[in-house]
Amino acid sequence: MSGLFPTRYGHFSADGREYVITRPDTPRPWVNVICPGRYGTVISQVGSGYSWLDHASFNRLTRWEQDLVRDAWGRYLYVRDRDSGRVWSLTWQPVQAKGARYVCRHGIGYTTFESSCDEIEARLTVFVPPDDTLEIWRIELRNTSRRKRRLDVFSYFEWNLGPSPDTHREFHRLFIETEYVASAGALLATKRLNTIAEHGVGQPWNTEWPHVAFHASSVRPRGHESDKERFLGRHGSVARPHAVVEGSLSGTTGKWQDGIGALHVALDLPGGAAREMALTLGLADTRAEALRLARRYRDPAAVERAWTRMRRHWDRLLGALEVTTPDPAFDTLTNTWLKYQAISSRLRGRTGYFQPGGAYGFRDQLQDSLVFLPLAPEHTRAQILLHAAHQFADGTAWHWWHPLTEEGLKKPLNDDLLWLPFVVCHYQRETGDFATLDERVAFLGADGRPSRERATLYEHCRRAIDSFWTRLSPHGVPRMGAGDWNDGLSAIGRELKAESVWLAQFLIGVLDEWVELERRRAKPDRAVMRHYAREAEKMRRAVNRHFWDGAWYVRATKDDGTPIGSRKNRDGRIYINAQTWAILSRVVPARRLPALLGSMEKHIYKKYGPVALAPAYRTPDASIGYLTRYAPGTRENGGLYTHAAVWAVQAECALGRTEQAWQLYRAFSPILRGRDPEHYAVEPYVTPGNVDGPDSPHFGRGGWTWYTGSAAWLFRISTEWLLGVRPEWDGLRVQPCLPAGWNGFRMRRRFRGATYRIDVKRGDRDEVRVDGDCHDGTLLPVFGDGRVHRVEVTLARASAATPAARAASSRRARPKASARR
Ligand code: GLC
Repeated sequence: MSGLFPTRYGHFSADGREYVITRPDTPRPWVNVICPGRYGTVISQVGSGYSWLDHASFNRLTRWEQDLVRDAWGRYLYVRDRDSGRVWSLTWQPVQAKGARYVCRHGIGYTTFESSCDEIEARLTVFVPPDDTLEIWRIELRNTSRRKRRLDVFSYFEWNLGPSPDTHREFHRLFIETEYVASAGALLATKRLNTIAEHGVGQPWNTEWPHVAFHASSVRPRGHESDKERFLGRHGSVARPHAVVEGSLSGTTGKWQDGIGALHVALDLPGGAAREMALTLGLADTRAEALRLARRYRDPAAVERAWTRMRRHWDRLLGALEVTTPDPAFDTLTNTWLKYQAISSRLRGRTGYFQPGGAYGFRDQLQDSLVFLPLAPEHTRAQILLHAAHQFADGTAWHWWHPLTEEGLKKPLNDDLLWLPFVVCHYQRETGDFATLDERVAFLGADGRPSRERATLYEHCRRAIDSFWTRLSPHGVPRMGAGDWNDGLSAIGRELKAESVWLAQFLIGVLDEWVELERRRAKPDRAVMRHYAREAEKMRRAVNRHFWDGAWYVRATKDDGTPIGSRKNRDGRIYINAQTWAILSRVVPARRLPALLGSMEKHIYKKYGPVALAPAYRTPDASIGYLTRYAPGTRENGGLYTHAAVWAVQAECALGRTEQAWQLYRAFSPILRGRDPEHYAVEPYVTPGNVDGPDSPHFGRGGWTWYTGSAAWLFRISTEWLLGVRPEWDGLRVQPCLPAGWNGFRMRRRFRGATYRIDVKRGDRDEVRVDGDCHDGTLLPVFGDGRVHRVEVTLARASAATPAARAASSRRARPKASARR
């Protein structure tokens, strides 16, 4: 074993940029979600997976079934020795041949498989160029024997060409049409029926799939096939397809098959010789364009250039913020994998093995887009404007919507809309770009199409906030509507009477922030500032008067007024969000803080991180929702729900409880948990959506990796709260939570047009120097001069554990926070 954090299944490369899997039988599929732009592919450590354009469920190129045990659907490559007849595959699936070596390297934007079987060393790299709608499979075969080897390479996958799953296969296959174009070495495929109404394309069920797919080879194919039965054989299997065993493809194409794609390339390799080739799989809007792409990448130089562009794309994007700390697990997650996960899987692909997805969640991708702030804030801006365009004139929004069809779900989950001003405030803090607030965006009309009514982004946010004033309960807190952040509370507010305490806390935080934003506008609206400040204070009082349950905050009330997340309940007595956000939004008064923290420590902070609620619901409760129907201890029902767990880390940082914050962080760090793979099970390089809680027999087992809102949040909290470098309205704050045992760290970060090279260390007294000169306080100035600025921060040894206290004078709410301790 070598590399970082080795286990029996693999390790990180020394620079943390690759995860190297050294055997195929990982406890779950350990996958890579590769999506630099519109086109994406997911590939597991055994070579299974699927590909799509724009929408991973509505526009799936290749067929896949969500079977995480067999993990046996994908696009595969076989090798056959023409003399011995031996057959194996370049990935472990589908042949599962035991070779001398098998390595899968998941990297940023690519996955490479290295294998050695029957004295043939192979390297297969799958990658997606950032600017073309295809994937490239680069293959290198080396004959390590002395004899001449005559090899056949076969590719194989099933065309899906549209919405997935297309379970009614006998129906769908009748519309697929394939063609072979010898001059391009390419199979083409299209579908004469589209069952979804693609926006602007026309009627569903009476129009074509608006693409032409292609599968091409750089080496002239010897044969091709598009008939599944001819390839596999009647009752055949992907493990031993008839055509591969026989060594030839029938050349069938047309409209009358169960459509697959397979190419056959013959490669002869003298003893010791090596050869390279490339296969492509992709799609374009027209046949001509498909052929152009297929032809372009037959040229090895074009493949090499695409590889370079791909590497540069990710390096540029991820490299904009880098940290060096004494903790390699922290650095690996922060510098590489969290950003990649959030961008590739959550924002661009919106898909993963646990949730094939494809839609936009109004709250989800808005939150995810926070990851871009220090990297390329123009992407956050674009996301904000996209979501604003999915908001109705009354301020409410679609809960989620599908790109391609532009259809959405209108359901009153009353927190959704509030994420717009929340993210806008963060964007403003980062960029100071107030002009974006004047950007005009159309609202959705009642028919779900863009209406004639347009308003500035500022107005969009104001309508979201102001929609609450008519939706307050007699207690003075927001009605939950049909649910809030916790999707599983799906039945609690059917009559729209239920109250959400967490939502009150969230709203209070947004109101406070909006007052700060308003203050800095060219012409602040003083009446709004007064109104929002007053409402925030009123709501703080209301939450404290009506929803303090003795030692923690109640989570919500049902339509009939009974509480959940209360000591009066048998199950679900305490919920995490109503406690963490009481801290984050400065709702909890100093006198209650010790009790609140005591409750968190006692009920919420468990061995593998903070759980979403405790204890788990044991029996379904129809008056709460599907949350209570999950197996106890899983997902939101008492599991560690990573998205919510990260807010506990932030809350502890905000209180200056450094060691507690780091302890929580480490408890669920996938890299650290991944050191025990048999127990933890899932990938050690990305965050899981959840980890089973103590009420599950599998306490500590991870699940739902990749497609989770926790990635962007953990990245933010790691850099802004644990390392403490965060944008504020008037500058960049440096207020680290330096854990015991750390002497310091370095960070390179952009902020409003300048680069800050921050060097934090321990010393005899607190001191901040900017470009060599002493600087007062911990708020760094806005330079905006395109230059690099050196920032040296010294933290006095004695006080290093309580940075919040030291900085108390520098932030409005800090005095309260420090007094609470
Ligand atoms: C899922 C949803 C997200 C929700 C969370 C908690 O991740 O996509 O919108 O907030 O679950 O229920």
